[in-house]
Amino acid sequence: MTANHSRDAILIVPSAPDYAAQMEDLMHASYGTTREHPDEVFTEAMFRHHMEIFPEGQFVALDGDQVIGQTVSMRIRFDPAHPILEPWWVTVGEGWLRHVPDGEWMYGVESVVHPDYRSQGVGGKLMEARFDTARALNLHGVVAGSAIISYSQVADQVSPAEYVQGVVEGRFFDGNLSKQIKKGFRPGALIEGYLPDMDSLGWGVSILWENPDHDPAQPILRHAPLRRYRIPRRSAASS
Ligand SMILES: CC(C)(COP(=O)(O)OP(=O)(O)OC[C@H]1O[C@@H](n2cnc3c(N)ncnc32)[C@H](O)[C@@H]1OP(=O)(O)O)[C@@H](O)C(=O)NCCC(=O)NCCS
Repeated sequence: MTANHSRDAILIVPSAPDYAAQMEDLMHASYGTTREHPDEVFTEAMFRHHMEIFPEGQFVALDGDQVIGQTVSMRIRFDPAHPILEPWWVTVGEGWLRHVPDGEWMYGVESVVHPDYRSQGVGGKLMEARFDTARALNLHGVVAGSAIISYSQVADQVSPAEYVQGVVEGRFFDGNLSKQIKKGFRPGALIEGYLPDMDSLGWGVSILWENPDHDPAQPILRHAPLRRYRIPRRSAASS
């Protein structure tokens, strides 16, 4: 796919079955997989299933009618004292999600923005859409794993733990983790063997956003209104 910057703003809308084929294409364009060899990425059928079981947690970013970003979420039971330290593909039920409909936490299953559109505010708005859903459902927060995709650039100089500390302190810029920290996630435990990925050398880190509006006196809800967002155009930062 090549960038096709229409004049209208980029929209974030709830994912819908009509977008599922493009959503699978975006996975392949971003991760170097193919429809013949999807490996550990989501297929159209998986995306449609996610929309059925948790519509409030699925969003796409649209440039005109083109899907240029997406986020997938599920609900889980979770204790922050026990971070999830297993491979991502296990946590996400090999693509079909281990969604618990009345789970008190949201798990951020996947966020991806087409490489031509990164660092222009799209992924950040997708993260905010998730936070809004967590607020509307009165969840405790959002937990996820972050693949530290720029680690391989300095892996001969620092350990994964030193790298994450350097990202937190702003000495390193990581194409995933720095952006997630900017949006309010806090990194926690390292995850070895998180993804079969050369950029991160398989390293991930557990990340957590606590919902500041969670009200323990109020019920945790099963459903929330589906929302839409507009993103004013920004020029790409270098990254
Ligand atoms: C993670 C990802 C989805 C983020 O999407 P994105 O569109 O690039 O994110 P944004 O441009 O919204 O950046 C988020 C924040 O990071 C900051 N940021 C982005 N690029 C930056 C840069 N080059 N330098 C400094 N800060 C930057 C922005 O300030 C933004 O915060 P703001 O909206 O408050 O200004 C995207 O990088 C991606 O697709 N990564 C590869 C796929 C992947 O591995 N996903 C799994 C994630 S664990």
